[in-house]
Amino acid sequence: MKLVLYLQSKRRVWWRDHLQSLLPEIDCLLWEDCADKNAIDFAVVWRPPAGGLRQFKNLQAIVSIGAGIDHVLADPELPEIPVIRTTGAELTQRMREYVCLHVLRIHRQCSDMEAAQREQRWRPVITPPATRRQVGIMGLGKLGTDAAIHLTQLGFSVSGWARSKHTIAGVNCYHGEQVPEDFLKRSEILVCLLPLTPDTRNMLNTNLFEQLPSGAGLINAARGEHLVESDLLAALESGQLANATLDVFRKEPLPSTHPFWTHPNIVVTPHNASLIDPLSGGAEIAANLRRFIRGDLIADLTDTKRGY
Ligand SMILES: NC(=O)c1ccc[n+]([C@@H]2O[C@H](COP(=O)([O-])OP(=O)(O)OC[C@H]3O[C@@H](n4cnc5c(N)ncnc54)[C@H](OP(=O)(O)O)[C@@H]3O)[C@@H](O)[C@H]2O)c1
Repeated sequence: MKLVLYLQSKRRVWWRDHLQSLLPEIDCLLWEDCADKNAIDFAVVWRPPAGGLRQFKNLQAIVSIGAGIDHVLADPELPEIPVIRTTGAELTQRMREYVCLHVLRIHRQCSDMEAAQREQRWRPVITPPATRRQVGIMGLGKLGTDAAIHLTQLGFSVSGWARSKHTIAGVNCYHGEQVPEDFLKRSEILVCLLPLTPDTRNMLNTNLFEQLPSGAGLINAARGEHLVESDLLAALESGQLANATLDVFRKEPLPSTHPFWTHPNIVVTPHNASLIDPLSGGAEIAANLRRFIRGDLIADLTDTKRGY
């Protein structure tokens, strides 16, 4: 059996060698080294080129090197075969750290204190306890559910929204196709952990911001295309939003002239909320491919029609 790897990173040779060591029974090739495309059974990819995967006529499955599959589904000529995403305990742990860190930063007004320190101003900020801070999580999948549970353990008053009904101890769960007004009304800090689909693209917009409590904080750790960037700038300007923490952007790396870099109320992180670690991520990929070959159930198998 043969596997082809597509990754626009200097580390792709390392990744290929790593996957080869984990899957000695499969011949692992770099995309550019693959002479006989008909011999390839599996593609392991991050942001594959449009029309690229259909050249592999005997492909059985595509593996996304990441939890999201939007970068795979973006290909209009994608073959209709199973798409397996890559998750795992470390990915969830990292996102938990990111969400808790930045919710706490917003809650305790850390940016204001850091600005005061730069000006050598002694300015104690008194914030309410977490029990009186309402956090809303958009998306109650693997990452959203875990973040909700851990924010609850920190004492926050947490709500969550997903398409289908969820029950999470201590979390006020909403469901439905539309974002419930009541959910937004009680989200002083809103965290986006939705997959990028046609339904969720541009969802973080003026209409949604206006339904949040005035002076709310936003954290987007999902995908840049969820956010209408000009609407965010307008909401920060008007004060409807007090601040935003953004890990993901429409164009990555964020262009050097982009206004987000220097905005006083925006924290920019370089899409590293929860990167796939090659060691543990490689092991997850290898385990999922073996499950696929054996015909076992794969929890990371996605629903390409649904988009996640
Ligand atoms: N920044 C980073 O470093 C980083 C790292 C990893 C992942 N991510 C992003 O995080 C996203 C979420 O990951 P995950 O593993 O938690 O995804 P997941 O397990 O697939 O969960 C997705 C959640 O979103 C909900 N959802 C989907 N479409 C919806 C809609 N139209 N309306 C309401 N709810 C909707 C789903 O509802 P149901 O439960 O009802 O299906 C589910 O609860 C990924 O897709 C990826 O884009 C970012």
